Amino acid sequence: MAARLASWLDERLGWRRVWETIFLRKVPKVNWLYTLGSASLFVAVNQIVTGILLTIYYVPTPDHAYDSVQYITTQVPAGWLIRGLHHWGASAMVVLTALHMLRVLLHGAYKYPREVTWFTGVGLLLLVLGFGFTGYLLPWDQKAFWATTVGTRIAGVAPLIGEAILRVMRGGAELSAVTLARFFGAHIWILPGGLLTLLAIHLYLVIRIGITAPPSRED
Ligand code: HEM
Repeated sequence: MAARLASWLDERLGWRRVWETIFLRKVPKVNWLYTLGSASLFVAVNQIVTGILLTIYYVPTPDHAYDSVQYITTQVPAGWLIRGLHHWGASAMVVLTALHMLRVLLHGAYKYPREVTWFTGVGLLLLVLGFGFTGYLLPWDQKAFWATTVGTRIAGVAPLIGEAILRVMRGGAELSAVTLARFFGAHIWILPGGLLTLLAIHLYLVIRIGITAPPSRED
């Protein structure tokens, strides 16, 4: 019955071809360093799932942000776990993505024909850092407030355009409710939109071109 349904669907959707292309493709004999990209992907999925769950209780206003995070941590069933996974996942994401990039660099895997894979990767790394920066403000505690005050000030000292960047980031001269709303919007809409777009291109290219074999002495 299940086999017939699968064949019926395959005739109409061609899903077997898609499955074979993604999961049954040939890969060269590689080592553990080649799992860093997949590990980054795994943590990215963790961030998306736990992040969506956090938005159910999190309130992005100065009056309620801090309390809502405390509520999630102490009152919501498994809230501490969801928040913990998101919190530590954020650091893991930066470390794994940077190590993945280092692996690609050391193996020379950015060369022809994988330049676009590399460029989309650079974009992904910047987005991951953007997630860290915007997410840090959301608990709206002393550490978050002052870290973002310093972070935006650093952008503010850039020559010529610094002051404008600072104002766009803060939504005014000082940190306020506008800043929190802005960072929240970037954290849950703008950055994820960019991440999913670049990730789709990145993974399409990894599958289309195939991954490099580890360089040998003869190369
Ligand atoms: C969200 C972050 C990222 C995810 C989820 C991700 C995911 C992946 C995956 C699953 C692979 C195939 C397996 C592997 O080679 O490890 C891969 C390959 C690759 N990635 Fe990434 N990546 C990310 C960031 C980056 C960054 C920051 C760079 C470099 C700037 C980069 C450049 C590449 C290149 C050039 C390949 C092809 C490697 C080869 O053919 O050997 N990626 N990526």
